[in-house]
Amino acid sequence: MSLYKDIIEKKEAIAVIGLGYVGLPIAESFAQKVRVIGFDTNKKKIELYKKGIDLTNEIGDDTIKNTKIEFTSDEDKLEEAKFFIIAVPTPINLDKTPDLSPVIDATKILGTKIKEGSIVVYESTVYPGVTEDICIPILEEESKLRCGNDFKVGYSPERINPGDKVHRLENIKKIVSGTDEEALEEITNIYTLIIKAGVFPVSSIKVAEAAKVVENSQRDINIAFMNELAIVFDYMGIDTNEVIEAMNTKWNALNFRPGLVGGHCIGVDPYYFI
Ligand SMILES: NC(=O)c1ccc[n+]([C@@H]2O[C@H](COP(=O)([O-])OP(=O)(O)OC[C@H]3O[C@@H](n4cnc5c(N)ncnc54)[C@H](O)[C@@H]3O)[C@@H](O)[C@H]2O)c1
Repeated sequence: MSLYKDIIEKKEAIAVIGLGYVGLPIAESFAQKVRVIGFDTNKKKIELYKKGIDLTNEIGDDTIKNTKIEFTSDEDKLEEAKFFIIAVPTPINLDKTPDLSPVIDATKILGTKIKEGSIVVYESTVYPGVTEDICIPILEEESKLRCGNDFKVGYSPERINPGDKVHRLENIKKIVSGTDEEALEEITNIYTLIIKAGVFPVSSIKVAEAAKVVENSQRDINIAFMNELAIVFDYMGIDTNEVIEAMNTKWNALNFRPGLVGGHCIGVDPYYFI
């Protein structure tokens, strides 16, 4: 029995939970090949998508007008799916601690909808341990099923850069992980349907979670360092751009520049790491 096979034969469906900058392009990409239910708790957003208005600008109004995604804010519709992708926000609280409430809320909803053979993949950026130590127990509690025996879980961080027309979902290598070999194989096969750049399987969910927070933290820290340098050089009357150009002639210079840190993730994810 293969969920991948059932999905490509359209006997089973994929549901994407959370249709923002990350969830909408994934849902669209899969909908070009298989049956996709797109679920979001924001009813206004769903209405706009149904009218053909892409608020995220990631797939565009023309695409959304012709999409096969079945948009809904009705939780019960999730019962029609067997492979679930969670792409809800992971912001921080005022005290800079992780606000996991959207992930927990989405997991609680999903816990009442999964069945034997379901696979749930988290894409939201989290710190290592959230999927296994927080989400799986909620799924088990709500569903009364056992992870491993009855359903499986995976984690696949999203690496898109909203607005970037060069690095698109399909051409960015995607890290995948699962609770066991069987889960990893199914998740790998299913994502390979849409990711032309291929997937990069890792041995555990925690490795995949950690890879995402550190890739963004590394970027944030390096840009912060360049900003510190720019302040210092300004006091010293040295042209920072010229320093960087000169430094970048070395083969292993990292090519970071001072400036704002782009996207709403880069400045937030290091707090998840901390
Ligand atoms: N935007 C990026 O650049 C980017 C890149 C890589 C990873 N990520 C990560 O992906 C995740 C999603 O980010 P995003 O930018 O797409 O966020 P977003 O705010 O654009 O979209 C999230 C969607 O989830 C919906 N939602 C919230 N709670 C829900 C629930 N309980 N059930 C169903 N839907 C719910 C919201 O209404 C919203 O439409 C975050 O963890 C983020 O860190 C974002």
